[in-house]
This record gives sequence, C-alpha cells and structure tokens, in this order.
Amino acid sequence: MNRRGRFITLEGGEGVGKSTNLDWVCSWLDERGIEVVRTREPGGTPRAEAIRELLLDPSSQEPLDDDAELLLVFAARAQHLAQVIRPALARGAWVVCDRFTDATFAYQGGGRGLDMQRIATLEALVQRGLTPDLTLLLDMSIEAAQERVDQRLGQQGGQRDRFERERQAFFQAVRDAYLARAAAEPARIAVIDASHSLPAVQAELAEHLERQVALWR
Ligand SMILES: Nc1ncnc2c1ncn2[C@@H]1O[C@H](COP(=O)(O)OP(=O)(O)OP(=O)(O)O)[C@@H](O)[C@H]1O
Ligand SMILES: [Mg+2]
Repeated sequence: MNRRGRFITLEGGEGVGKSTNLDWVCSWLDERGIEVVRTREPGGTPRAEAIRELLLDPSSQEPLDDDAELLLVFAARAQHLAQVIRPALARGAWVVCDRFTDATFAYQGGGRGLDMQRIATLEALVQRGLTPDLTLLLDMSIEAAQERVDQRLGQQGGQRDRFERERQAFFQAVRDAYLARAAAEPARIAVIDASHSLPAVQAELAEHLERQVALWR
C-alpha cells in the first residue's frame, strides 16, 4: 500500500477527553521526533468540515435520515482520506485523528441501530483496507462524562449539537458498541479508564504508546 507513517485514533463518547488528550498524544510523538498530523472526524478538510456542519446542525427543521447521516459520514471520510490521511501516511508522517470509523460503528451502528454489516461494507468501499494501527478508546460512565460536557458548556457557552441532544439510552448503546469493538479487536484497541485525573489518564496513554511504538520501530 506504499505507506510508512502510523495511524492513531482517539475514540469515546462525548466529553471523555478525546480532544484534550489528542494534544497530549501529538506532543508525546513530537517530542520523539515524529512528524505528526493532527486531525479530526467528521471533518479534517474544508469540504469535510462543511459536511460536519450538516451532521451536527441541531436547528434544521428537516430531520436527517439515518442512511443519509451514514453516507454523509463516509463522504466526509473519503474526502479526508484523499486530501489528508493518505498523503500524510505516504510521506511518512503519523496521523492522529479525533474519532474515525469506530465512531461510525458506535454512533450509527450502536446509537442509531443501523446494521453493522452495512457499515462494514461502506468501510471497505471507502477505506480500501486502510484502518488505524492503534486506537485509544477513552471509556467512562455516561453520567460522569455528561457532567464534564455540562461544565464545558458552562465555561465555553454554545448550544448542544444534534448528537449531544440524544438521550441516555443512545449514549449507553454507543458506549456498549465501542466496548464490543474493543473486545473483538484487543490488539488494536486499547481501553483507557477516562474517569481518572488527567495525569493518570495520560500515564495510561503513555504506557500504550510506549509499548506500541517499541513494537513498530
Ligand atoms: N481526566 C479528566 N479529568 C477532568 N476533566 C477532564 C479530563 N479530561 C478532560 N476533561 C475536561 O472535560 C471536558 C471534556 O473534554 P474534551 O473536550 O477533551 O472531551 P471530548 O471527548 O473531546 O468531548 P466531545 O466528544 O464533546 O468532543 C473539558 O472541559 C476537559 O477540560
Ligand atoms: Mg472533542
């Protein structure tokens, strides 16, 4: 496949600390002389970010069909892969991404109840075999993560997006789907206890990164 860089993703439900720890993971790699491309999904390119806006927009009068949502997620991903991820990996940079296809299985599969096999079909079509080398899954109770989101909303303002407006059962299904994927792919997906203090979470992240980087070098 002509690629030399490594592809690392951070996953987990709302408010578990993905964005906070993404910065930290990028610094950790940067300190080791690795060229890092920091990005996110849905989004990561101007056109893909425009699709993200469509996906998150809570104000629309028209409901978004579940299949349309799924296809938009993969349309944004195709653009992101073509414009950012594949070129970066090909030149030897490492890509660290805030959410990727595990999130599609968790949100559209677990949360919305779409058939996982249909998602896998789109994954194969769009990714053509490119999957993350390491996934750091930040896991904690829905209630505690919600408190963090509420705190952040209090500090930064703004309104809840389409996903943040979902109900408890939706988030529980998302969490369950993430954990099921981790159980099925333990070599790729590391489950991190995200309820701990930030230094404790980062110590756990460092352990996984050190082990994995040593295996790759
Ligand atoms: N280990 C931690 N302990 C306490 N607070 C934390 C911890 N990790 C993150 N936070 C805080 O919790 C809030 C949510 O963190 P962050 O925005 O990184 O989560 P996220 O997973 O990116 O959320 P989203 O899914 O909404 O993008 C932030 O205010 C952040 O400062
Ligand atoms: Mg975030």
